[in-house]
Amino acid sequence: MLKFDYKNTGVTPEVMAASHDKVMQAYNTLVNKSGAGNDFLGWLKWPTEYDKEEFDRVLKCAKKIREDSEVLVVIGIGGSYLGAKAVIEALKGYFPKEKELEVIFAGHTLSSTYTHQLLTYLKNKEFSINVISKSGTTTEPAVAFRLFKELLVQKYGEAEANKRIYATTDLVKGALRTQANELGYVTFNVPDDIGGRYSVFTGVGLLPIACAGIDIEALMEGARLAQVDCYEKPFVDNEAMKYAVVRNQMYNNEKTTEILVTYEPKLSFISEWWKQLFGESEGKDGKGLFPASLVYSTDLHSLGQYVQEGKRIMFETVINVVNPEEVAIIEKADSDLDGINYLAGTSLDFVNKKAMQGTILAHVDGGVPNGVINLEKIDALHIGYLLYFFMFSCGLSCYMLDINPFNQPGVESYKKNMFALLGKKGYEELKEELEKRL
Ligand code: PA5
Repeated sequence: MLKFDYKNTGVTPEVMAASHDKVMQAYNTLVNKSGAGNDFLGWLKWPTEYDKEEFDRVLKCAKKIREDSEVLVVIGIGGSYLGAKAVIEALKGYFPKEKELEVIFAGHTLSSTYTHQLLTYLKNKEFSINVISKSGTTTEPAVAFRLFKELLVQKYGEAEANKRIYATTDLVKGALRTQANELGYVTFNVPDDIGGRYSVFTGVGLLPIACAGIDIEALMEGARLAQVDCYEKPFVDNEAMKYAVVRNQMYNNEKTTEILVTYEPKLSFISEWWKQLFGESEGKDGKGLFPASLVYSTDLHSLGQYVQEGKRIMFETVINVVNPEEVAIIEKADSDLDGINYLAGTSLDFVNKKAMQGTILAHVDGGVPNGVINLEKIDALHIGYLLYFFMFSCGLSCYMLDINPFNQPGVESYKKNMFALLGKKGYEELKEELEKRL
């Protein structure tokens, strides 16, 4: 499924072996649920213990949405957005097939241009809404929901519109739950003990992903296989532990930034999801690696110079897709005017892999350690595996730094200021103070 190769990270097998006790301590803290944030560990065994009844309802609703809609508007932000977006981007083709349900995201931005243009685009489309918010009170999705719901009601009338709204939220609390109960929306539950960035395998991710025509049973099976491996494999064969050790070593060696690199553009939203996972979990108490991402070879022609020769603050983790989904062969040309006949008969993927190998060695020579996650291929099974692998190793990484992986206190600061500046009741004093500084 997946192997983590750390030979170009500078972490020797001896250093890896010497990290055994430290990573095992983090592992025990995680699986025994004895660390900080231990009331948010519902995701750990979710792939084997998930709610089967709700899973069947997801499949039924996805079938209905695919039959009665041309577009599903998925409203959510952060952990209520990135998992579904990442999986859909990774598993759909690069170009749309005719007559396929489009899954379009909203409420992840306050851009009036994006929102207005999407509202215009939807005017002549049959559509449904999946509004996702665990708290049910987040401003961005709440504002978007009001706007898109208005259009839905104009189009279908209130009763039919309510049948086209699917709300994924807390079982009992929050404004979205109140609305859903009052207006009779179909609802899916975000379990109390699963935070947003760990929620991709719950209804939060599964409904949009299933609506996109992706096999969510295979996705869950991939997550289950990863769960078994992360829990049961001994340290020497435990890829999540090895990845956590390498990250920890990099951190201790004064690296400040981890760049997740992919040579397959469709994985770029896996990187966005990964950035939230690691950034929001680890970046606190003045600690943590800054998670960044690049797509090569594209970005080698823009940021490659900095990576090769700029400030030596980073290391790279490369996701190498071992077997591409499609093959393109470079043919021999009669005249070799472009000078690339030396590649005749080779596949484009071979060229991509040589670019990757050459880049890894160049970056290592330039002082940028490189670890490689070799992912056998891109399909629902392997993506499910990859996401769980990252969540587990993120938990280990945080406990190795003595950080609570499951809270995000820093996210509140901008919200408070925004509410004050918007004139929300109760923030009058702060408003006055902030306005003096603007
Ligand atoms: O991971 C998280 O907890 C956050 O990114 C949340 O998912 C995000 O802030 C959205 O919150 P909510 O789902 O409550 O609207």
